[in-house]
Amino acid sequence: MTTRRKAIQTIALATGAAAIGARAQTAPAAPAEVFKLPPLGYDYDALEPHIDAETMKIHHDKHHAAYVSKLNSAVAAAPGLEKKSIEEILKNLDAAPEAVRKDLRNQGGGHANHTLFWQSLKKSVGGKPAGELAKAIDQSFGSFAKWQDGFGEAATKVFGSGWAWLVWRDKKLVIESTPNQDSPLITGGVPLLGLDVWEHAYYLKYQNRRPEYIKAFQSVINWDFVSARFADAAK
Ligand SMILES: [Fe+2]
Repeated sequence: MTTRRKAIQTIALATGAAAIGARAQTAPAAPAEVFKLPPLGYDYDALEPHIDAETMKIHHDKHHAAYVSKLNSAVAAAPGLEKKSIEEILKNLDAAPEAVRKDLRNQGGGHANHTLFWQSLKKSVGGKPAGELAKAIDQSFGSFAKWQDGFGEAATKVFGSGWAWLVWRDKKLVIESTPNQDSPLITGGVPLLGLDVWEHAYYLKYQNRRPEYIKAFQSVINWDFVSARFADAAK
């Protein structure tokens, strides 16, 4: 009896081992981490009271992380893309394999847009651009106040989910908006500043009051960062 039980146990163990072995051979490997979630660069509560800590934590740790993860899955399905930057991929979207193009646009756009967004924000230090960017904004829009109005209007008018942008395009500063996670890079522009108006960016604190969130954003723009991008794009 003992011998028979041992034999049964041996068979069961062998069967189990074979099953585990089969799973190990057939389980899909996790995609390589070609793209990584960049650190926020400041504390979650750094932008309080304008943008609350809970929103920043979920927005960065969950939403942006999900774009990065799905982007890595798309890149894993299209060999060669892992050598390119996300900017290069978005600028040349038509050259990417059609099977992954939509994911690159949505998930890659989500990664590029949010990476820029975190860097564009800072605890208020005066709330106005200076130097060459200030001059260019005055020349392009009439005044900084008029730029604020135009940018706010573009952000308010985004239907559903999307972004408002200050873009360097055709050697000019322009205000634009895009739906979903479309980046101005796709159409040849250089995004200098972007405002995320997806509800996930403001709903916890502002609920349906998007205009209040848009106004609050104006208090936390990192104009030094935007100026540096402008100088780089315009040279
Ligand atoms: Fe977002």
